[in-house]
Amino acid sequence: MRVVKVPLGNRSYAIKIGKGLLSRLGYECERLKLGDRCAIITDTNVGRRYARPAFDSLAKAGFSPSLVILSPGERTKNPKSLQVCYDRLADHRLERKSFIVALGGGVVGDLAGLVAATYLRGITFVQVPTTLLAQVDSSVGGKVGVNLKAGKNLVGAFHQPRLVLCDLNTLRSLPEREYRAGLAEVIKYGIIYDAVLFTRIERDIVNLLRRDAKTLSGIVARCCEIKAEVVGKDETESGVRAILNFGHTIGHALEAISHYGKYLHGEAISIGQVTAARLSMRGADLPARDFQRISDLFERVGLPTSVRLNARQRQRFFAAMRLDKKVSDGEINFVLAKKIGRVVRGQKVADSLIAQTLDPQPETRH
Ligand SMILES: NC(=O)c1ccc[n+]([C@@H]2O[C@H](COP(=O)([O-])OP(=O)(O)OC[C@H]3O[C@@H](n4cnc5c(N)ncnc54)[C@H](O)[C@@H]3O)[C@@H](O)[C@H]2O)c1
Repeated sequence: MRVVKVPLGNRSYAIKIGKGLLSRLGYECERLKLGDRCAIITDTNVGRRYARPAFDSLAKAGFSPSLVILSPGERTKNPKSLQVCYDRLADHRLERKSFIVALGGGVVGDLAGLVAATYLRGITFVQVPTTLLAQVDSSVGGKVGVNLKAGKNLVGAFHQPRLVLCDLNTLRSLPEREYRAGLAEVIKYGIIYDAVLFTRIERDIVNLLRRDAKTLSGIVARCCEIKAEVVGKDETESGVRAILNFGHTIGHALEAISHYGKYLHGEAISIGQVTAARLSMRGADLPARDFQRISDLFERVGLPTSVRLNARQRQRFFAAMRLDKKVSDGEINFVLAKKIGRVVRGQKVADSLIAQTLDPQPETRH
């Protein structure tokens, strides 16, 4: 088992990464001296496979768990689902010392985290991420939230988990498309922070695509280390944490205009990152060779790298970008790459340039 620490003073916590960790859930919660009652929030896909082992492990350790099972997918991450969860927690009489286990991907983690942040003005929660994206990214750092029709994550909070338990075995049942989408966040860490990691991903891409556990454990741990380091420096995103949004302004807008239905988050930010990299050649002197390596890696993973929008979609796309949280004083702040492993934030880019770079060559379109 690998352990990565998130250094946040008295809210510090550990990310534990390894095979078969789900069966240790109860033991790990017991070590944290959490209250008796808890609720496992999950979705039907994950619940079918992993709710029972999670429930049994907690019960065996002396906890009284209850189960809240939601529909899967991004559309569940909305204020209505919050209400469903609050009512269920109240039915099960969860109290101030009770805790929530978020068992699932980023959708469950973000939603259950916001439930934990707000129910009784905040109770403890533990993240048990079961997608690659959630293990390397969304379960760490305490950003929790839900979407509004107008845009992604527009209602949310910062609420750190007490523990993140990444069981690599759960990744085996993840659908191929979801797994590949998760690799978009993995590649992001290489681009924004660690050129050695980027090279390692290029080298190990075949093993990664095969979900080789040894390769995965090293890469997941490195991504978590980077996220922990960045979050440790800037918990509430007033500075350096913004680099984690590389490719996300464009990605979130694509998700919003397709009503969270067409693209998976990882696919949308794949287009977003390649577009941001292309903008970076113009706006941050990213060498063309680095751009090519970035674009090639996303292509090798089989992720989309460009999109064609008609005039109406383009209008909605720019409106959605302006609603994103990275906008200040009406200007969109972009994170651009100077080279692989190094980015700059707070860069202003003209709309016309963004429109051009989204779909530069019709023959590479998806
Ligand atoms: N909070 C943050 O810092 C942060 C960071 C990045 C992304 N996010 C959010 O994360 C969300 C995307 O997360 P996601 O990609 O994990 O999506 P997801 O939670 O929708 O999971 C993807 C799909 O895989 C299924 N699934 C999950 N684990 C499985 C498993 N082990 N086996 C079989 N099926 C499984 C789910 O039921 C779902 O259908 C987005 O809402 C995004 O905004 C948040």
